Amino acid sequence: MGFPLTVGYIQCRPAFNDPEQTMLDLDRLLDRAASADLLVLPELCNSGYHFQNPEEARQSAEPVEDSRFLRFLQDKCRQHRFYLATGFNELEGDCLYNTAVLLGPEGYVGRYRKLHLFLNEKSFFQPGNLGLPVFDLGGYTVGLLVCFDWMFPEVWRILALKGADVICHPSNLVLPGFAQQAIPVHAMTGRVFVVTANRIGSEKELTFTGQSLIAGPRGEVLARGSETDPEVGIEGLDLDQARDKMITSRNHLVKDRRPVEYGFLVE
Ligand code: ACM
Repeated sequence: MGFPLTVGYIQCRPAFNDPEQTMLDLDRLLDRAASADLLVLPELCNSGYHFQNPEEARQSAEPVEDSRFLRFLQDKCRQHRFYLATGFNELEGDCLYNTAVLLGPEGYVGRYRKLHLFLNEKSFFQPGNLGLPVFDLGGYTVGLLVCFDWMFPEVWRILALKGADVICHPSNLVLPGFAQQAIPVHAMTGRVFVVTANRIGSEKELTFTGQSLIAGPRGEVLARGSETDPEVGIEGLDLDQARDKMITSRNHLVKDRRPVEYGFLVE
């Protein structure tokens, strides 16, 4: 075993604008995941997703610096000595962001704000303005994406080039199975591990697709959740597999790129 790391997803049903209920549900699931080093929770886990108006979108939003929901999760990180990436409805000033927050045993580590807003999210959230940071968690590197970001290959490539070993992907996926097909391919083309924590259940006419997954750098699905049930998925990884970017004896994932031919992408 090269660099061992135990990762997991929490597949659950965040209660719509009822973070107290969500914390009660998470309490039990997080205790079941105590053996993990790094966990991922769904998108907008403190609020739910399908808002009908701006008031609903704001009802459970909190600042990262003063959040009862994040304090609860921080206590869990301290108790079980794991790191955790959660989707978070973030209030900053007057603005809302669809954010992924990374916490650990010592507290807040960092955040990423979703770059690619999906459908009605555009009515409530500001697009991300913090770029695509990666975080060193003491010997390994983590990147963050949120749900619909999966559709944009550019963000996966950037995180892989920044040295991410694991990409944490809090999600509320609704398109039927598309992301679950694409994510193992993104893991393969970036030679990274991906942990997608998707939610289950319905809000009004939206049904979330579950099937959370852990994908490996050869495109393999190492763990997959059901479509409908709250679940914890845990998998032991060898991060050396993500650090070996040789595809064949003569092909290197990074060195074989031809960036001089890629300028069109940013025109
Ligand atoms: C999504 O980005 N929540 C579909």
